[in-house]
Amino acid sequence: MDKNERIIGGSGIREDEEIETTLRPRWMSDYIGQDKAKNKLNIFIKAAKQRREPIDHILLHGPPGLGKTTLAGIIANEMGVNIKITSGPAIERPSDLASILTNLTTGDVLFIDEIHRINRSVEEVLYPAMEDFALDIIVGKGPSARSLRIDLDHFTLIGATTRAGQLSSPLRDRFGVLLNLEIYNEDSLKTIVKRSAGILDVPIDDFGASEIAKRSRGTPRIANRLLKRVRDYSEVMGDGHVNQEMSKEGLDILEIDELGLDHTDIRIIKTIIENFGGGPVGIDTIAASTGEESITIEDVYEPYLLQIGFLTRTPRGRVLTKKAYEHLGYRYMEK
Ligand code: ADE
Repeated sequence: MDKNERIIGGSGIREDEEIETTLRPRWMSDYIGQDKAKNKLNIFIKAAKQRREPIDHILLHGPPGLGKTTLAGIIANEMGVNIKITSGPAIERPSDLASILTNLTTGDVLFIDEIHRINRSVEEVLYPAMEDFALDIIVGKGPSARSLRIDLDHFTLIGATTRAGQLSSPLRDRFGVLLNLEIYNEDSLKTIVKRSAGILDVPIDDFGASEIAKRSRGTPRIANRLLKRVRDYSEVMGDGHVNQEMSKEGLDILEIDELGLDHTDIRIIKTIIENFGGGPVGIDTIAASTGEESITIEDVYEPYLLQIGFLTRTPRGRVLTKKAYEHLGYRYMEK
């Protein structure tokens, strides 16, 4: 399987686009979980609306699949403005960004996903745009070149990144609001699964929803994807009702274990145990031994392994915990 199409990968796959547009909440009141981020945003939105001003630039950071794009859409919707969605790597040249920016009108939201991947020359156009709502354009060449300043409408930039640490500090400092999205707890995921099942018209009970929530690695995008697969399974193997038995069997067939770990997680854990005595071991060494990229391990696999207490980070590298050993049936020896 292409690793981008891994069923429990946090990154989006094609089918998700269709699911996500129907399931994506449009209002803050439909957005489940992320209470800390939501409470802050509700205040900023209300204040901006009372002052009849655009909302300040916002940086959303956190692991993939937690609803950063969804949240940006909700913010625009709540503010009653348009949203233009793009991503860091899609903006290749300064002129690409200039044309996007000059097409925004007051209050509009520009959402840049993976903003840490924006290139330097584009980033430099962004600074005056964010700070002074201006574009500095160089006209002409050589000694006769002049800088021309064009005013922009007062837009709102919402940046999203899985790695806030990779953002340059001048860029990070230009955001007025920094919000961290966290991995969802099981209760929130269960509510999301039930909400999605309602929209998709899938009959589901509490136990079925719990089973899917437990195996979704804290990620709504994965929960929605697993719900669709379990729906398929229960339509073919049962009467279409998603109960605990159908969820369990359907997810077992997908080789997703009771904690949501798939074969890649298991391979990473086994490699650390078998080749490196459980750690400490550096991320690049783990990457080289498993054939995954360091970035993928850090963004996709590690957050969940940290969250469930299987892995810890130490100054000397990653260390597996007793819990990880026991989950895979290895004997743990205290170090
Ligand atoms: N779908 C994806 N993320 C969601 C969320 N936080 N609340 C409700 N539905 C969602």
